[in-house]
Amino acid sequence: MGSPLKRQVRVGIIGAGLIGRTHSLMLRLLADALPESVAVTRVHDLDAAAADALASKWPEAKSCARAEQIFDDGSIDAVFVCTPTATHRELCLRAAASGKHLFCEKPLAMNSAEAGEIREAIERAGVVGQVGLVLRFSPVYTVIRAMAAEEGAGRMLAVTMRDDQDFPIRGAHASEWRNQPGVTAGGTLIEHGVHDFDVFAWMFGPIRSLYCRTRVLNGAPGIEDFAATEFEFEAGFYGQLTSVWHRILNRPSNRRIEIFTENLFLACDTDSAGPIAIQRGEGYEGKITEEEVMRRYQDLVLRERPCLSPLRHAFRIPYAVQDAIFIAALRGQCAPGPGIDAGVAAQRSVEAAYRSAARGIAVDLADLK
Ligand SMILES: NC(=O)c1ccc[n+]([C@@H]2O[C@H](COP(=O)([O-])OP(=O)(O)OC[C@H]3O[C@@H](n4cnc5c(N)ncnc54)[C@H](O)[C@@H]3O)[C@@H](O)[C@H]2O)c1
Repeated sequence: MGSPLKRQVRVGIIGAGLIGRTHSLMLRLLADALPESVAVTRVHDLDAAAADALASKWPEAKSCARAEQIFDDGSIDAVFVCTPTATHRELCLRAAASGKHLFCEKPLAMNSAEAGEIREAIERAGVVGQVGLVLRFSPVYTVIRAMAAEEGAGRMLAVTMRDDQDFPIRGAHASEWRNQPGVTAGGTLIEHGVHDFDVFAWMFGPIRSLYCRTRVLNGAPGIEDFAATEFEFEAGFYGQLTSVWHRILNRPSNRRIEIFTENLFLACDTDSAGPIAIQRGEGYEGKITEEEVMRRYQDLVLRERPCLSPLRHAFRIPYAVQDAIFIAALRGQCAPGPGIDAGVAAQRSVEAAYRSAARGIAVDLADLK
């Protein structure tokens, strides 16, 4: 990146649906805590009413009918790409070519080749790129990651996760495109599980190989609502992920994780603040309360990025921490992340899982072209 911005970061949002609105709310939280930090100044959506409604949340913001109006606006520093997956590649390439810093939602693209093109465009333009792999800011996963790495935990033995969500075309995720081949990159594995593939590698190190089976019950062809994936980690241990899109409307999107190291068992029934059940080798059994999870999370986040301190009151919201990091990075106050590289790596891993499911064999990531 060139010189850090020494003034308010001016943002254009493309896509004023569920996640575009979420980012606007997070940037609002940040602007309320630090008025000099950020302002949304332009919003584009194919649906003009959605763009108008979101722009109205910011005093200076205008909606616009074409994405070009954001790319050509020299006063805009950064673009948030919050549209359906098939549109990411083109919007990201155009954003980078116009010199805008880029926040792109997950999955980065329809496949890892396209995701790689986005990475190259960012590198060529010398702009900052960040991908919306927000699970890295889950308080419980941050705390579990740190505890598993403590010396006394011993070697990692196993991880098991279940990730489930109502098939996301109704309720909180009422978007028809999620069941449209050609617009979505796939089903539960790529559109939700990509978070889990990323967080597994972030928590436990690189993945060596994958074996996966998928099933399509309610989705269009290629849009799986079930996947069972076995992971072999380079460190020599194994994990399982069960990914489900069900039809239980009132069940919130959620995850359960269990990990065993030689001397430690941790389990958690939420992907947010806990509590975490714990057993230790010497006989201790108990739980880490939500308050304690948040205390440890705050310490871990602030140790790495002390500049986020003014946003401490919002640390329970992973999206708030994620977006604050992107803006602080543009202002030269901390490192961005997860970067586009992480998005490409996660997409490659999911692609290996799809290849495994299609061929009925384990797939080594090193063999993936
Ligand atoms: N990180 C997360 O937790 C998370 C959560 C939800 C969605 N997402 C991702 O965010 C993206 C958007 O998902 P969503 O839930 O907000 O979808 P959504 O359907 O709620 O909103 C998408 C919006 O994009 C607009 N749009 C479609 N094509 C466009 C184009 N070419 N140009 C401009 N606007 C366009 C639509 O009119 C709609 O308003 C997807 O990639 C999805 O996977 C990430």
